[in-house]
Amino acid sequence: MEHTTLGKTKEKISRIGLGAWQFSEAWGLTDYEKAKAVVSRALELGINFFDTAMVYGNGLSEAMLGKALKELGVKRDEVVVTTKIPADFLNPLDIPRAVEKSLKLLGLGYIDALLVHWPPAWHNYPTRVYARALEKLVNSGAVRYLGLSNFPVELVESFRSSLSRADVEVFQHRYNLVERWAEEEVIPYAESCQITVQAWSPIAKGALTGKYTPENLPRFADVRAADPVFHPSNFAKVYELVKLLKAVGEKYGKTPTQVALNWLIASSPVVVPIPGAKSPEQVEEIAGAAGWRLRLEDWRLIDEASRAVSISYSVYYVEREVKV
Ligand SMILES: NC(=O)c1ccc[n+]([C@@H]2O[C@H](COP(=O)([O-])OP(=O)(O)OC[C@H]3O[C@@H](n4cnc5c(N)ncnc54)[C@H](OP(=O)(O)O)[C@@H]3O)[C@@H](O)[C@H]2O)c1
Repeated sequence: MEHTTLGKTKEKISRIGLGAWQFSEAWGLTDYEKAKAVVSRALELGINFFDTAMVYGNGLSEAMLGKALKELGVKRDEVVVTTKIPADFLNPLDIPRAVEKSLKLLGLGYIDALLVHWPPAWHNYPTRVYARALEKLVNSGAVRYLGLSNFPVELVESFRSSLSRADVEVFQHRYNLVERWAEEEVIPYAESCQITVQAWSPIAKGALTGKYTPENLPRFADVRAADPVFHPSNFAKVYELVKLLKAVGEKYGKTPTQVALNWLIASSPVVVPIPGAKSPEQVEEIAGAAGWRLRLEDWRLIDEASRAVSISYSVYYVEREVKV
């Protein structure tokens, strides 16, 4: 496994992390032993960077990840775990309460990096108020580093300027070969400030793996039930790219999943994909995305084909026949 460092810190993290949203009802993996097998294989393959969140299974993901790490005998400094606090909890009453619960569920003693899951809407929490409340957790040692997920750079700037001593070390953004908006502002900003970008949905929730075809688009019973990427009119375009990933991968003895993830790590030194996996076999494939590089001509070929894919997010609305 290749490694890099987290933000401006000295923390060593694997070049590919593991997302643990899968350990929840949303993705259907609620059997602890199955989740433990996923974590175990990830550790064996050198993955030490794990992501979870308070809202994943309403604590179930944090609990399963923490229990697995404990039962597998992992030493505290061998892993770097990020968890996320939802925007709804960003008031001075809820922040310490929620973090205390998260610490209990994870059982790790401290949180390596706590990210704000998404910017607050509806509650009108001022940025400086929650930034300072979060910094207190760093000062107390409950949290080592702070991060922001799904924040636009304007708000990142405002958050950072509200901190006294701590800084933002990690971002988390949707970033994959068919959803590349993060390249416009967020990734250049992160590169200039040495902030790690955890790429979420790095294989477009499975759409880039080659497992699904336009003829075999299962009706998902999970979080993907109405995902625009899998809508037939979008997926037809995505699938053209999958065919290219397959053809390129054959030259290297790699799968479309591995090519899609390798393209991301080859694109920016700060990007660290955090794919989710539901089995040890999926983890093996994911881990095999690091330790090699696409040749520039192949990277460019994929870049060009991926730019030709545009996803419509209004598709379910626009294409719906509304009768009254
Ligand atoms: N900050 C945020 O707002 C946010 C949002 C979303 C996710 N995240 C984080 O990012 C992580 C990953 O994102 P994601 O879960 O949305 O999507 P993803 O990683 O792009 O896709 C994961 C899914 O792809 C399929 N898959 C994985 N490995 C595979 C393989 N080797 N071969 C074939 N299929 C494979 C599995 O589903 P099937 O086998 O069922 O097809 C798996 O559940 C999450 O776990 C979470 O930690 C953060």
